[in-house]
Amino acid sequence: MASDTMRLPAMAVASELSTGLPARRSSLMRHPAVLAWSKLSADLPLPQRVAPLKGWNGKLSRERKTMVYRLEGVGPYGGAVVAKRCRGADAEIERTVHEEVLSSLELPLLRYYGCVEDGDGRFGWLFLEEATGQEFSVFLDEHRVQAGRWLGLLHSAAARVRPSGRLRDASPKRYLEHLRSARERICANLDNPVLTREDLAFLEELVVQLNELEEGWDRLDEALHGAPQTLVHGDFNGKNLRVNTSESGGAIEVYDWEDAGWGVPAVDLAQVAVPSTYLSANPDLDSYFAVVREQWPRTSLQALRQLARTGTVFRAMAALDWESSNLVHDWASGFVVNMRLYQGELAHALDALGWTQGSRRASGGATAAAGGQPTEQSGGA
Ligand SMILES: Nc1ncnc2c1ncn2[C@@H]1O[C@H](COP(=O)(O)OP(=O)(O)OP(=O)(O)O)[C@@H](O)[C@H]1O
Ligand SMILES: [Mg+2]
Repeated sequence: MASDTMRLPAMAVASELSTGLPARRSSLMRHPAVLAWSKLSADLPLPQRVAPLKGWNGKLSRERKTMVYRLEGVGPYGGAVVAKRCRGADAEIERTVHEEVLSSLELPLLRYYGCVEDGDGRFGWLFLEEATGQEFSVFLDEHRVQAGRWLGLLHSAAARVRPSGRLRDASPKRYLEHLRSARERICANLDNPVLTREDLAFLEELVVQLNELEEGWDRLDEALHGAPQTLVHGDFNGKNLRVNTSESGGAIEVYDWEDAGWGVPAVDLAQVAVPSTYLSANPDLDSYFAVVREQWPRTSLQALRQLARTGTVFRAMAALDWESSNLVHDWASGFVVNMRLYQGELAHALDALGWTQGSRRASGGATAAAGGQPTEQSGGA
């Protein structure tokens, strides 16, 4: 926990702060987000107000994974800075991405102010310019076009940066681990008495499909062969994006780099059949291609589509993994509903990849991957 209050008196109070409220000023200065902010630099202004954005429960909870606050009046042009307190390991990932990769790219980015360790290092505070654009919608073509262009710029520019040893791996292996973790969690909770007969039938079938996919995993690796390695956001969905239309042509604002890593950029390109804010932004692949083709002359649109389908498989593995952690609860059935959606996306992506239909089952009509052959040449980028 930040405890360095000695430097606070040196901070200037943002001009709009009412001068007649010394008590408010001192309570602001005691707020954990402000204390952490003050540790970045001695001459930073004090915010006019601190407003909770996520995880607020009246006090800073040590148990909660993430707390997010707006520090009003300390950002560019009097805007806000967002203070995010998360687990130390997650903060370290975001810090590495900002400091070792994004800082060297010429790309429209939210300004990163820095990172402060919280107490014993179990948590960290990250400070980022507030995204002020409108919410991203997968239903708006213009938003998907903007997302495709921005990703094209990110992936092609970051591929020229020498990867830092501290960046996490974002190779297919990561998603194979998600597959195994999801399967383990499903199997460990099949005895949850709240699960219905239909839930159990679905989950048991899903385990079979995951087994088959694991067996055929090398084929996914092959489909990615030759694709460039670059910085991957890893959680490129509508919740982590805003679209700022005030600038000419619009600009995507991106945050939440906790899942970022270095690898083939498949997962960011994931395309879901049923648009969902949380699963993927469905970035427009034509727009992406128009940006990356210069840097990656060997890339074809066909290869990118293959990459995106593989990314959908990866995304489904990550989603099944995080959703399966809820199977332990009394309300597990509610989460099985979401898992059905992810399984549907998985089946759709595998179909599109042209895998042989090893087993088509009654509950979801899913296609198994084992023994399949991609119908398109993956070519690589
Ligand atoms: N720079 C920012 N500008 C505007 N809003 C932000 C910013 N950073 C975070 N937020 C808000 O706080 C929320 C949580 O932040 P973030 O996504 O980084 O954390 P998270 O714990 O990974 O959240 P989640 O699991 O919900 O994705 C975001 O969904 C968004 O509403
Ligand atoms: Mg998020």
